[in-house]
Amino acid sequence: MTKLPTTYTAIEIACEQANVVKAMLSLQQVTKKLREPEPDELLIRMEATPINPSDIAFLQGSYRVKKTMPAVPGFEGCGIIIGVGKSLDHDKWIGKRVSCFTQNDKDGCWANYFYAKPQEVMLIDESLKAEQAATFFINPFTAWGLCEIALQRESKAIVINAAGSMVAAFLFELATMHQIEVIGIVRKQETAKHLKASGWKNILVENCPDFSSQLKILLEDLAANTAFDAIAGSSAGFLLNALPPDSEVVVYGGLSNKSIADINPLGLIFDNKMITGFNLSDWMAETDSITFEVARNTLTEIILSGKVKNKVQTSYPHTEIKNAMKSYLGNMSAGKVLLTF
Ligand SMILES: NC(=O)c1ccc[n+]([C@@H]2O[C@H](COP(=O)([O-])OP(=O)(O)OC[C@H]3O[C@@H](n4cnc5c(N)ncnc54)[C@H](OP(=O)(O)O)[C@@H]3O)[C@@H](O)[C@H]2O)c1
Repeated sequence: MTKLPTTYTAIEIACEQANVVKAMLSLQQVTKKLREPEPDELLIRMEATPINPSDIAFLQGSYRVKKTMPAVPGFEGCGIIIGVGKSLDHDKWIGKRVSCFTQNDKDGCWANYFYAKPQEVMLIDESLKAEQAATFFINPFTAWGLCEIALQRESKAIVINAAGSMVAAFLFELATMHQIEVIGIVRKQETAKHLKASGWKNILVENCPDFSSQLKILLEDLAANTAFDAIAGSSAGFLLNALPPDSEVVVYGGLSNKSIADINPLGLIFDNKMITGFNLSDWMAETDSITFEVARNTLTEIILSGKVKNKVQTSYPHTEIKNAMKSYLGNMSAGKVLLTF
């Protein structure tokens, strides 16, 4: 093994801050001691890591995943394995590029080095560039899990809000592969324009005067029976109320930072409507290795073929975390902002 430094830098938060600006300003660069990996650990030299909505929610204390403070955030990223614990297969891991994902109570991916358990990493196709590898774990696999739900429900059409997101981009591609129509809802005309240009046929802008009537027409015409909600607040209730009997709204994000409201109880009581949740970690725990392998290969193919790529608007050295967060929060639909190491 090449000689390693004795220390490395990481981004740290001292405590959760509900105000996103305060949370951003409180992030600090710290120096940590580099140690040998534990027998069941891999040591990864990080290349890149994105800022995701879940990272923002974590910093604000509004995410279910909690870490002992002070903490190094960052739920995903990619890097090269440069150290292998004694009880692991050295040749299988050493020198390999991996995507990492962790929601455990330990230092996350916003650091030069990341200590991972084998189940927190995925070997990836060497031709995936770092920016794709860094964003490969969370959103593409979430879209896969959501598409599985649509398939189980034999949906002819689905609805997804916050449709300018990366999850929505992958879900659109996967649903289209299965001949499932997709109705996308966004909040900005600009996002609608981009999505139309990339092949979305059914896009609605939520604050347009005829939004509700247009949605009703599309829901009926396309026979949609499943909606995927990333916003919560009144959005999940709105979708559930708008959908026909026997429909399901799957809530997988809380971008509004608000509790779900305005559900018409009659839909639940008389129309067999359902509202459920989706969590990637649970999906991963419940998914067998063959399905996971098929998902990994299909998603890799989708990215390498250029059908969908994890959109990256810009990268910053990790030392510029505050500028990186400002860029991302200023325009989330423009793509991920990466921290590089
Ligand atoms: N449950 C899970 O396991 C899981 C896993 C992965 C992701 N997620 C969730 O999936 C969602 C999308 O994540 P992503 O990484 O794909 O997002 P992303 O690519 O960073 O994009 C976020 C999108 O959400 C829109 N948005 C932000 N706040 C909004 C609001 N209050 N109302 C309406 N639209 C809003 C943005 O539009 P503007 O440009 O208009 O701001 C942007 O298009 C997030 O909620 C994330 O937490 C959940």
